[in-house]
Amino acid sequence: MNILILGSGGREHALAWATLQNPKCDRVVVAPGNAGIAQICETCALDIMDGDAVVEFATSQSIDFVIVGPEAPLAVGVSDRLRAAGFATFGPSQAAAELEASKSFTKDVCAAVDAPTAAYGHFTDADAARDYIRAQGAPIVVKADGLAAGKGVIVAMTEAEALDAIDDMFHGEFGAAGAEVVIEEFMDGEEASFFVLVDGTDVLPIGTAQDHKRAFDGDIGPNTGGMGAYSPAPVMTDAVTQKALDEIVKPTMAEMARRGTPFQGILFVGLMIKDGQPRLVEYNVRFGDPECQVLMMRLGAQAFDLIQACATGGLTDARVNWANDHALTIVLAANGYPGAYEKGSVIRGLDTLPATSCDMVFHAGTGEKDGDIIATGGRVLAVTARADTLAEARARAYTTTEQIDWPEGFMRTDIGWRAL
Ligand code: AMP
Ligand code: GLY
Repeated sequence: MNILILGSGGREHALAWATLQNPKCDRVVVAPGNAGIAQICETCALDIMDGDAVVEFATSQSIDFVIVGPEAPLAVGVSDRLRAAGFATFGPSQAAAELEASKSFTKDVCAAVDAPTAAYGHFTDADAARDYIRAQGAPIVVKADGLAAGKGVIVAMTEAEALDAIDDMFHGEFGAAGAEVVIEEFMDGEEASFFVLVDGTDVLPIGTAQDHKRAFDGDIGPNTGGMGAYSPAPVMTDAVTQKALDEIVKPTMAEMARRGTPFQGILFVGLMIKDGQPRLVEYNVRFGDPECQVLMMRLGAQAFDLIQACATGGLTDARVNWANDHALTIVLAANGYPGAYEKGSVIRGLDTLPATSCDMVFHAGTGEKDGDIIATGGRVLAVTARADTLAEARARAYTTTEQIDWPEGFMRTDIGWRAL
């Protein structure tokens, strides 16, 4: 099969890497890709937000199957365009992608089926939002309603912080995404990510992970897209997993089908767990980045069979071949990230690194210039290892980072601390 993957991050590098291991796969093209992806398969410049351009490209390349990596093309309906043009496509419709694109939409779906999540109010008026905050008190969570590249959430520990967040959002700090806000009860507990394939009706859990959202060691500093992850997440015991499926995932997916907008793709379920009870923090409609890197390393070649079953044959008979292993990934980011950072610095030491089924350096924001690998984004590399124990995976991943010569970058030195 000829497989097209849309996206350019560490997530898409990991998806391409796992897909290439599957015997069904003759050819993988990633658009637009990055320098690391270009080392393992074809890449091509393409505006993946332009549905016409994507369909035209897939047609010209005789593509049999498309995997949509990021949320942005899903939210504008690129998967609908591809399916309408006859391409088997992994990724939800624009209507089902609302589960990520609109926080108030998700809150409404949860309310319809009584799925456990934070109490909330939805506001389009700043004064009403301020009154609600004063009535509820802190801590409280203020969220821009739309897609805000992971930056639209303020967990306010004081009332003043929450009121400031309202000022920022209604004065355009988050662009159009801030014209509507959701204000939520603060949930205490331990966070975990739960990944479930959904074919419209059936659900198949394929793994759990924990991310490290803050920029610096000890979970301090600004929120980022994720500075490292590991899988599995110990807090996701069998009992918690079953509760999350029965009380949150299955009812909300049934509600989506009932509304005539069934979800097909990977559902990334962000959970807060306290005293064995999971509550929904958010849904995302695509794999997490860097969570995908650890999931793909654990699933290997079977990942594509599962993805294909999800998008075409249905998941009724699909099974995951679980290994009793652990994977961990460490993100190397450009100094300054998630704030302003320089682009174009040269990364050395990558040529001699291990590239095996247990050790991989996935590229996120990289490019090639005059034969050198250069940093082109905030998060740049995801150094990933798999082993029988989490401690061993972590030790191997950190050993690999020592061989990378990139003074313009930084990483956290405590990835996995919670589980170890
Ligand atoms: P989200 O974009 O909704 O995942 O929010 C980003 C992060 O903010 C989450 O991963 C949590 O760490 C935190 N967060 C979001 N909502 C809440 C909440 N209701 N209570 C506590 N923390 C939250
Ligand atoms: N790592 C969090 C995300 O992909 O949204």
